[in-house]
Amino acid sequence: MNLPPLQYLDVKNKRVLLRLDLDVTIDKDTDKDSTGDDFRLRASVTTIKYLIEHECKQIVVLGHKGRPNGLSASLSLRPVGDALMEILKEELGEETVNKGHIFVRENLRFDEGEEKNDINFAKELAKQGDVYINDAFGSSHREQASIVALPEVMQSKSKSKNVAAGFHLVEEVRALSKVLTNPKEPVVFVIGGGKMDKAFLIDKLLDRADWVLVGGVLPQKTKSYCREKDGKACVVAALLGSNKEDITPDSAKNFTEVIKRAGTIVWNGPMGDVDRGYWDGTQIIAESIANSKGYKVVGGGDTIKALKELNLVERMDYVSTGGGAMLQFIAKGDLPGLKALR
Ligand code: 3PG
Repeated sequence: MNLPPLQYLDVKNKRVLLRLDLDVTIDKDTDKDSTGDDFRLRASVTTIKYLIEHECKQIVVLGHKGRPNGLSASLSLRPVGDALMEILKEELGEETVNKGHIFVRENLRFDEGEEKNDINFAKELAKQGDVYINDAFGSSHREQASIVALPEVMQSKSKSKNVAAGFHLVEEVRALSKVLTNPKEPVVFVIGGGKMDKAFLIDKLLDRADWVLVGGVLPQKTKSYCREKDGKACVVAALLGSNKEDITPDSAKNFTEVIKRAGTIVWNGPMGDVDRGYWDGTQIIAESIANSKGYKVVGGGDTIKALKELNLVERMDYVSTGGGAMLQFIAKGDLPGLKALR
């Protein structure tokens, strides 16, 4: 997929609007990122370094956190911005970072225009920049103002190139495209977590899979079924415990039998409610994926957090910052945020 590369954008003395994945959890006591989401912030360093080295005038960082309904102190991006600046200082040095004149804008979703992909909100944002860069793969599946309307507005206001894909975004697309082209079979998707909207992707994922194994909250909405293709392709929804806190040990065992034989595995979302301490299903699945000889791709904040807790990150072949975005890219081969850049 051809995305407009950052190297061809003239950023010298330009004000840059940089969309990043800032939807991360910060540990309030230490003011440091306590989770695998640290990974999302670190993913932006290469692009920011490039912008500073190429003498941009200012970087306005755009992002969202959570799903607020209006203003919410707990979903402020201030601590995330502080954590990002700490990481940048650690990686690039304070003097370099200061040259970037970096500002992190407050949570875009505090304004209802963001989730409505509102053109007027995008026009307001566009006033703050001369060029736009999307380095937020994990948010690029959302048709929202900073992902879709903003690059369109930017492109309409200038004849010369003024939008580009950040380095991390390009890398995600390159790595995940491998799963799209001739993946080693059988292909197994393991999907869990707490977001019900992933259920809409299951049918589409089945076109690319031999098995889709479903845990987290999704079995409450998804039934098991098989579909004829060359062989059969099957969705298996786990049974859940009585309080829906985790998949049952029998379901976990059935899943591991399928995972053992996989040629390619894509995993997003814990199997149980790990935030409330229900780790058993997630641990069993994570370990069986780590032990598999297949090509292993995982993604999403909660999944990376779980892998970090279990010390298994290094055993994966590719770790994506995107959760829903990764699944949607593999299911559909494209994302609204990528289309908007093209
Ligand atoms: C994510 O964490 O997957 C992204 O930040 C998207 O968040 P959303 O599902 O609330 O749109």
